Amino acid sequence: MSSQHQSARKVTVQTLKQMKTAGTPIVSLTAYDAAFARVLDEAGCDFLLVGDSLGMVVQGQATTIPVSVEDIIYHTRMVARGVSRALVMADMPFMSYSSPEDCLHNAARLMKEGGAEMVKLEWGALQLGMVTRLTECGIPVCAHLGLTPQAIHKIGAYRVQGREHATAEKMLADAAALEAAGADMLLLECVPMALAARITAQASVPVIGIGAGPEVDGQILVLYDILDIAPGKRTRFSKNYMEGAPSIQAAAQGYVDDVRQRHFPTADYAFT
Ligand code: KIV
Repeated sequence: MSSQHQSARKVTVQTLKQMKTAGTPIVSLTAYDAAFARVLDEAGCDFLLVGDSLGMVVQGQATTIPVSVEDIIYHTRMVARGVSRALVMADMPFMSYSSPEDCLHNAARLMKEGGAEMVKLEWGALQLGMVTRLTECGIPVCAHLGLTPQAIHKIGAYRVQGREHATAEKMLADAAALEAAGADMLLLECVPMALAARITAQASVPVIGIGAGPEVDGQILVLYDILDIAPGKRTRFSKNYMEGAPSIQAAAQGYVDDVRQRHFPTADYAFT
């Protein structure tokens, strides 16, 4: 089914939950400005993430660590102006949620000044209380588990997470705890597909994968990866949708249709 047939009604957190229940794959990409946001919205993306990946793909930084709250607000404002249907999610950058006060203050800024409708934070033991507090304040939250790029200097390399029994069981427990704390969505980055499938089966909120295989509720990729303009070597789990596409619009439509029809990702783009 082409995404043109999707309802044009504004996507909310509740819509995404209903899509999980109905078994309709949720489609998402990152976006950083109004022009691309409009193209991706028209192609049928259900939500757009203003990711701190902008530090690497837009600003040319080596990691996501230098990205500031101001940077995310600036780009979220532009993305929010470009969409009419998709939900807009904004990343909380490194150290913007290192205390409950900072977390609330900065999440509120992303919503009030940027126009974000949901915020995403990378998981660590500290974040459980913060997810509860954001939820109590009516702020929708997505918790990012698996590979958490803001911890790159601790992890040492961008690699698959949760391959060992203990780390897999911990991720399952963390996912359940985050949902109990109020998380409205879980995002799994670079997680073995069998583990991602278990987390998805256990969760009652949508689970979105990036490098987490096909058995999740939805997919996200970095926009510049599908357009094949990201710096460096393309990640194993992303796909160049510009190949054979006559335009950026066609490439975006190809990705949206593939995810919606469960043609992407195949096991070739997943980890075991
Ligand atoms: O910042 C980002 O683009 C992300 C994606 C990798 C999901 O967090």
